Amino acid sequence: VEAPIEKPEEPTPKLKTIPGPKPQVEPKSQPQQTPHESAKGPKKDKPDHGQRPNEKQRKKNLESRGPPPSRNSHVPPHLVKKRDELLQTRQTLPIWPHADPIRERLRKNNILVLTGETGSGKSTQVPQFLISEPWCTKTIAITQPRRVAAISLARRVAEEMGSYFGNQSPAAKVGYSVRFDNATGPSTKVKFLTEGMLLQEVLRDPDMNQYSAVVVDEVHERSVNVDLILGFLRNLVAEIEKGSSRRKQPLKVVIMSATADVEGLVNFFAEGFAKNSGQPALPEADKFISKCFVEGRQYPVKTHYLPQPSMDWVESALKIIFQIHYKEPLPGDILVFLTGQDKIEGLEKLVNDYAEGMDKEMPKLLALPLFAALPQQAQQRIFQPTPRHTRKVILATNIAETSVTVPGVQFVIDCGKSKIKQFRSRLGLESLLAKSVSKSAAIQRKGRAGREAPGQCYRLYTEADYKTLEERTTPEILRCDLVQAILTMKARGVNDVLNFPFLDKPPVESLKEALFQLLRLGALKADGTISDMGLQMAKLPVTPKLGRILLEAARPEKDCLLDVIDIISALSTEDSIFFNVVTEEKKEAAEEARRDLYRREGDHLTFLATVQQYADEETDRRAWCDRHFVSHRAMQNVMNIRKQLRQQCQSLKLLTPADLSKESSSSSPNTDAILTSLLRGFVSNTARLAPDGSYKTFVGNHTVSVHPSSVLHGRKVKSEAIVFSEFLYTNKAYAKKVSAVQMNWVEDVMKEAFGI
Ligand code: CDP
Repeated sequence: VEAPIEKPEEPTPKLKTIPGPKPQVEPKSQPQQTPHESAKGPKKDKPDHGQRPNEKQRKKNLESRGPPPSRNSHVPPHLVKKRDELLQTRQTLPIWPHADPIRERLRKNNILVLTGETGSGKSTQVPQFLISEPWCTKTIAITQPRRVAAISLARRVAEEMGSYFGNQSPAAKVGYSVRFDNATGPSTKVKFLTEGMLLQEVLRDPDMNQYSAVVVDEVHERSVNVDLILGFLRNLVAEIEKGSSRRKQPLKVVIMSATADVEGLVNFFAEGFAKNSGQPALPEADKFISKCFVEGRQYPVKTHYLPQPSMDWVESALKIIFQIHYKEPLPGDILVFLTGQDKIEGLEKLVNDYAEGMDKEMPKLLALPLFAALPQQAQQRIFQPTPRHTRKVILATNIAETSVTVPGVQFVIDCGKSKIKQFRSRLGLESLLAKSVSKSAAIQRKGRAGREAPGQCYRLYTEADYKTLEERTTPEILRCDLVQAILTMKARGVNDVLNFPFLDKPPVESLKEALFQLLRLGALKADGTISDMGLQMAKLPVTPKLGRILLEAARPEKDCLLDVIDIISALSTEDSIFFNVVTEEKKEAAEEARRDLYRREGDHLTFLATVQQYADEETDRRAWCDRHFVSHRAMQNVMNIRKQLRQQCQSLKLLTPADLSKESSSSSPNTDAILTSLLRGFVSNTARLAPDGSYKTFVGNHTVSVHPSSVLHGRKVKSEAIVFSEFLYTNKAYAKKVSAVQMNWVEDVMKEAFGI
């Protein structure tokens, strides 16, 4: 199976040279041919896969879509009003005329592969098209690679349906489920969830009985999780078709993608049916699988390159932002693609500083950051209309590439890099690295400038550099740590992971490495089947390493689960608890204020002290945070995760209500038990002190330095061994979130894990 087809670079794909007036509610043009058709010629007597609906159908769609207000008499008027307002916008989306064909195809076949440009309305409209179908008696799941998108889509779809959202009311029809935050209720009919959450659900309910349909969105991103979901779904639908599944009702599956290789996906599912029935794959494919192609709306985008490579692309971006702002009339917002939060916040500050010095008559500049860890409310600002006499500058990670559609953008500035997860098998560790994007990602980014009018794209690299980019992004499964994926598969009963239906088969070495890691963690038995411990680990909403640590801490001889939950909650929040203090003078004040939280054992016990003091603070937690230079937002998040982890541990019978009631954080923690529990999970993240004063990893003998953010950084007396929970690779290898441990502890866990 091939990777997604890449669109040609020049001219811009599906480009309309002259932008027409804003699309009307009622499409006037005659049905056009899709690329599929034009290649093969119209097929009158064949099923209309990939064709646009005819005029009559379209009119019928439009007539049937306005929901009668009387049905929603129990819904407050403001929701009804909003719904009616949004209907107009919905009707202009390119996907709108495809509603009936999509429904028809899914009545006929259980699988639909739907492709359409970002912003064409796939994620928001498809669930609404399907909700009243006769087969849709249960919930519709729509998976998303990112939590931001899951939550913001749920909010949007609730508005469009005139419904409450999430936990607002038991009557809410739209909800979401992301790690540590489940906002669904008894009436949830449309549920947006992250891919990871769907995989967790599959473990509890392999037949997906709670769903009538599963919509797998953003398949082109090819996350490991999406590949697993596709493999599970392929097996499940084939079993249902054959009658060998316990599930007797059909499951409708919609695979949605902005750029995918349709034929590759169709073949992939067809092979599943063929394997089951012993028939050849391809002639049978049309019987089971439908296709639909939604034509995008794309205006021309002019590309500019730098004449010379830039040494500092934050500075280059800054220059171009102001150049555009001075030269180009309003409206026309700017979208800048950067690598991560640090660069985004750096540029945000620069833009604000320089904007202050602008002429008073100049339009204002409004810098808005957009990255996954940004709190929801700040993210919502992106979708609000640009204030008068103002230009928005959205500073985003690759999240804005296909996942989130930002309205109003006419200029794109692309640094050409993004942070990707990379498994460094030499070190046995996974880290985020800033890497050059692929051509197909660069084209996606550029396309963001031409959604509503002709636009311009400034690439912060040379044209020669562009030519050296890889054609398409390597699927994550080919470059990632597969431990979590394999654990999920094993827990789901897939024993022969080498023969799992992967869209792209990962290298055998990474599969083996993952299997070994799981053996070391005690998740697998010697014969490769899952252990009881492994089953429990798979059900915990944390990585296998953290899961092992929780289980270790729950053992009677350790008995430190509540403390370890506090630490893991602190490790699981995306924001930093101790935020970066910028000025020197504040740095000293922060050090002083945090002193009573710092623990000589290292960062993990420092986190524990912080969480417990915060939890004990009854009068004013915000003031406590201000006093200690601790992020209140991060701590609120930690408390939420802590609550959920406690619940999960209760449901796995690791904790009893009695444990929670006898809890007293004033008693001093059993630090040895805590640190040895941590070691059990982070057995590969350990290093010993070498005679030259550096730390060398136990596995692989590589040098790592203690990161400057650690409380152990710069200690005169260094401990004989360390364990760390994060690994950062910039110009050198850093251990982040570090604790000092005893050499004999490390030797003991090594013996247990490696059998040496
Ligand atoms: O899935 P696809 O990229 O095809 O489109 P979509 O996410 O359904 O977005 C359709 C339209 O809804 C976009 O033009 C967005 O402007 C709008 N939308 C929004 O306003 N707020 C959201 N949270 C999501 C989408």
